[in-house]
Amino acid sequence: MSKKYRFETLCLHSCNNSDLFGDSTAPPLHRTSAFIFKNTKHAADLFALKKSGNIYSRINSPTQQILEEKLASLEGGAAALAFSSGTAAIHYTIINICSTGDEIIAAKNLYGGTYTMFDGILPQFGITVKFVNQNDPNNFEKAITSETRGIYIEAIGNPSLDFTDIEAVAGIARKHNLPLIVDATFASPYLLQSIEYGADIVLHSLSKWIGGHGTAIGGAVIDAGKFNWKDPKFTLYNKPDPSYHDVRYGHDFKEQDCPAFSIRMRLVPLRNLGACISPDNAWIFLQGLETLSIRMERHCQNAFETAKYLKKHHSVKWVRYPGLKDDPSYPIASRYLKKGSGGMVVFGIKGGEKAGARFIDNLKLFSHAANVGDAKSLAIHPATSTHAQLSPKQRKEGGVGDDLVRLSIGIEHIDDIIKDIKQALEKI
Ligand SMILES: Cc1ncc(COP(=O)(O)O)c(C=O)c1O
Repeated sequence: MSKKYRFETLCLHSCNNSDLFGDSTAPPLHRTSAFIFKNTKHAADLFALKKSGNIYSRINSPTQQILEEKLASLEGGAAALAFSSGTAAIHYTIINICSTGDEIIAAKNLYGGTYTMFDGILPQFGITVKFVNQNDPNNFEKAITSETRGIYIEAIGNPSLDFTDIEAVAGIARKHNLPLIVDATFASPYLLQSIEYGADIVLHSLSKWIGGHGTAIGGAVIDAGKFNWKDPKFTLYNKPDPSYHDVRYGHDFKEQDCPAFSIRMRLVPLRNLGACISPDNAWIFLQGLETLSIRMERHCQNAFETAKYLKKHHSVKWVRYPGLKDDPSYPIASRYLKKGSGGMVVFGIKGGEKAGARFIDNLKLFSHAANVGDAKSLAIHPATSTHAQLSPKQRKEGGVGDDLVRLSIGIEHIDDIIKDIKQALEKI
C-alpha cells in the first residue's frame, strides 16, 4: 500500500484492508488485557514464536498493531512498535542496542528529558553517552571509539530548532556500521521521512503532533529494517539469549518477516519491562494520524507567519524558525523540509529572561504548558522548566538560552495568534 498512495491518503487508509478492521470503517478499540487461545498447542506455539498472534496486551494488541503498521508505512519503515511514552521509546531503543560498557554518541541539543536520561540515568547501568555539537557532523565521527554502538540525534532540536544534517551523519554511521537513531518528533512524519536520508531507527513522541490534541502520552520506534546487527560488536544480537529460548536475534529470524531490532524490542524490553501503550491511547493516536497532514499544513503556515511577525517587532531581540531564510538552520533544513518548517518558533525578548517571563504571563489565548504539538497554541520558558535539570553550561551548549521563549503554534486563526502575541509584548 505504501507505494501506491500519497502520504495524505496513507494517513487515512494504510492498514484499512487488513483483517484487523473487520467490517468497521474506523479502527476497532480492543480494550482487553488478554486474548483467548484456541487450545494449549496454540498457546505453546504463540509463546514459542512458531505462530504469530496476540497473547497479552503488554506485548501487542490489535489496536496497537494498526497504529504500528500505519506508522511504519508513513515513515517508510519495515516495522514499528508503540510505547507508553516517547521517553520509554527512547529508553528501550538504547537498551535494545547497548549493554554495560557500550557507548552512544548524541547531539547536544536534545529535549531536556532525553538529555537527563542519557547523562544521568544510563550511566547508572554502565552505558555512557558522549555529547557532541551536532552542527558539524564530523564531531560525531571524531567521538567514535571501539565501544560506540550508535549515534543519536533530534532532526529538529527541542528547543534550539537547529536542524541536524541527517544524510551527513548517516554517512558517518554507515561507514562505522553504527545505527543512526533520529528523534523526528518536531518534524512529524508529514514533514520528514528520515529513513530516506539514512536513518536506521526513527523515534516519535506520539504525544505531540501525531496525537495532535494534547490528550494522550505515547511513543513509537520505526525500524528501517536495513541495519546489519550481525556485526559481532552488537552482542545482544549475536549471543544466545537465555531469557528467550537461546534465540540469537541477529540470526534466527527472517528479516523480511520482522527485522531483528523490532523483534528483540518486542520480546525483550517491551515484554519484560512493560512500558506498553494502552489500547485507548493507541486509538487516540490513530485518530490523530487521520488529520496529521492538514493540521501540519496549518501549524507550519501559522508558525511561519508568527516568526515573520516576531522578527519585525521592536521588542524582539532574536527569532529562530528553520523556515526563515536568514535562520542558521535554513541552508540545511530547506534541503529536507519541503512541505513546511514545523510548528515551533523560539525567540528572545529585549529585557531577557524577566521580559520573557512577563510575556508568557501576559498571554491570553496561548496556554502556558509543558507540551508541544497541540492543536492549541502553547508557550513555555524552557530554561526554568523542561530543561531546568540541565546545568547552565549544558543548556548553553544545547542552544537553550536563559531568555529563550518557546512557542508551539497551534491551528487557530493566525490573526488571533498574532493579536495575542502583540498584546502580550506590548505589556512588558
Ligand atoms: C523531541 C522530544 N522527544 C521525546 C520527548 C518525550 O516524549 P514523551 O513526553 O511522550 O515521553 C519529548 C517530550 O517533550 C520531545 O520533545
